[in-house]
Amino acid sequence: MAEGSIEIYESEDRRFPPPPEFAAAALTNDRSLYDEAEADYEAFWARQARELVTWSTDFDTTLEWDLPFSKWFIGGELNVSENCLDRHVDAGKGDKVAYHWEGEPGDTRTITYSELLDDVERFANVMKGLGLEKGDRVAIYMPMIPELPIAMLACTRIGVAHSVIFGGFSPDSITDRCEDAEARLVITADAGYRRGEPSALKPNVDAALSAGAPSVENVVVVDRCGTDPEMVEGRDHWWHEVMADAAADCPAEPMDSEQLLYILYTSGTTAKPKGIMHTTGGYLTQAVFTHKYVFDLKADTDVYWCAADIGWVTGHSYIVYGPLANGCTSVMYEGTPDTPRPEERGDDRASWNKDRLWDIIERYGVTQLYTAPTAIRTFMRWGPEWPAGRDLSTLRVLGTVGEPINPEAWMWYHEHIGAERCPIVDTWWQTETGGHMISPLPGVTTTKPGSGCHPIPGTFAEVVDDDGQVVTEGGGYLTLTRPWPGMLRGIWGDPERYKETYWSTYEGRYFAGDGARVDADGYIWILGRVDDVMNVSGHRISTAEVESALVDHPAVAEAAVVGATDEVTGQAIVGYVILIGSVEASDELREEVRQHVAKKLGPTARPRAVFLVPDLPKTRSGKIMRRLLRNVADGHQLGDTTTLADPGVVAAIREGAAEGDGD
Ligand code: WT7
Repeated sequence: MAEGSIEIYESEDRRFPPPPEFAAAALTNDRSLYDEAEADYEAFWARQARELVTWSTDFDTTLEWDLPFSKWFIGGELNVSENCLDRHVDAGKGDKVAYHWEGEPGDTRTITYSELLDDVERFANVMKGLGLEKGDRVAIYMPMIPELPIAMLACTRIGVAHSVIFGGFSPDSITDRCEDAEARLVITADAGYRRGEPSALKPNVDAALSAGAPSVENVVVVDRCGTDPEMVEGRDHWWHEVMADAAADCPAEPMDSEQLLYILYTSGTTAKPKGIMHTTGGYLTQAVFTHKYVFDLKADTDVYWCAADIGWVTGHSYIVYGPLANGCTSVMYEGTPDTPRPEERGDDRASWNKDRLWDIIERYGVTQLYTAPTAIRTFMRWGPEWPAGRDLSTLRVLGTVGEPINPEAWMWYHEHIGAERCPIVDTWWQTETGGHMISPLPGVTTTKPGSGCHPIPGTFAEVVDDDGQVVTEGGGYLTLTRPWPGMLRGIWGDPERYKETYWSTYEGRYFAGDGARVDADGYIWILGRVDDVMNVSGHRISTAEVESALVDHPAVAEAAVVGATDEVTGQAIVGYVILIGSVEASDELREEVRQHVAKKLGPTARPRAVFLVPDLPKTRSGKIMRRLLRNVADGHQLGDTTTLADPGVVAAIREGAAEGDGD
């Protein structure tokens, strides 16, 4: 198997057919969707688009495919915020709860569809008042508070593309993203609550804008935590003040189906993140279709909870656009799952209970829970007493996403959370795909723990070998063979990189960057990244990005980064660093270098360990041998070192690595 793969052990003996009582009660799912899509996938998607999405002008052409560029639902016009809000309010569902929102400190807000619509119209008017026009870009850097989806939906109402920047990212990342997209406005908050404390956001925006991004003219700031940030006269505006002054009505403007909806930056194999572009009609169709069928949604009665952050694509598609377009009730939670409400907190963090997540499920009667394997493994570690007597019987479907799930974690989810009653949907997809691509369908698919099973109806995947030949049983590379409505339309400002990254490895195929295996029954098992991209807690971080942050430190001459296997986070970042000649190695310096990465890229990218080494293992052509470093990091036996320029280097690194300790 190629480098970087994560071994998944197949469990042929464990199969979970859909529980009959569940299948009988299922609203929508049956095998006919597969048959229909197989027979004519364009007609299938056209039907979904017309049934699930409201168009102000019907489309005349379903698909224009000029490989690798696709256009979907050509000639159609629609507005995303109208699909997510107005049409439900017009249908008499204005009083239905859109979000049960819960802040980390325990404050709650219940937001109905008509309240959400009011705020979205107002904020769209605020943006118009700040001079924003259709086609402009806006950056959003916010905590998980209702104003975040409000800001996104307000953008879609007037045809402004948003670029949401995860709240854990650093000022540098904000500058880069604002510059790349030439954002005219930044929407932020003073801070958000995280692990019991306000975590500052506005000061990061200030730092980002004093370092660059001259296109940014205005900043709107939500007062979430009352931290009293500095406000720049003429540039910065309080959300509550501009909202109070804004007109109440803002009609939804019909947009072309291919109007840019948003940009979301994601890591690739180079240091520069890629601005993944999604457009309007196709993306919404993919999000609404998958949200409905993959979670077997009963929109009238379900209380659905995607416990991701909106800063990632999971939150875009499955907290905002999918659930709202389907008109269902969602839970939205600001904080971390192991932060109790204040009245339950002692001074000693170690004594904090692990009840929050289970309490939320019980209190709101959550029917679908969608989370990541890294979270599931964390819950497992909390100990068998959790979820401590909570009634989780409302749960119907459990989802997982972001990285390969090990069968043990799958089984734990199935038994301890799902009471062996809830189907598990292991959903493979990417920022680039916009929505689910490979997943079981509850009520239809017989699942195997750890397998994503099959492409969903209307999507087509094949595993190929090094030569691009289809593998019908065995390991290889995951490719997608036909365009799909939610596919990325390109990389912002870089069509060449788009072709090169996704469409040049295997002729006529989209290459996802993941390894996969097909078993004897035709089930797909995703093995993880095969390129130089790490997957840490389901977040993509490129080795090159972290390496360039490391060499940015004045004491660092050279750096190599690998993803080591980690029981909880999937992979953990390990850096090997050569210092410049005049600098003395020390533990303090090691720690400083580690923190430097967090400062440059944000805490998510902080290496678990940094080793100061005398040299790096390289091939004769000068390429760093990551496989060796990964083995050292994993504490494994070393592989073949005969192509090394200096085989002694690895021994020296191992000794250094044995002395250094990460955390
Ligand atoms: C990469 C995409 C999809 C939303 C969150 C991540 C890995 C994703 C699975 C899964 C195995 C998975 C892949 C993929 N991945 N879901 N169910 N099983 N691996 O989005 O940041 O764009 O990352 O996450 O490696 O390529 P993303």
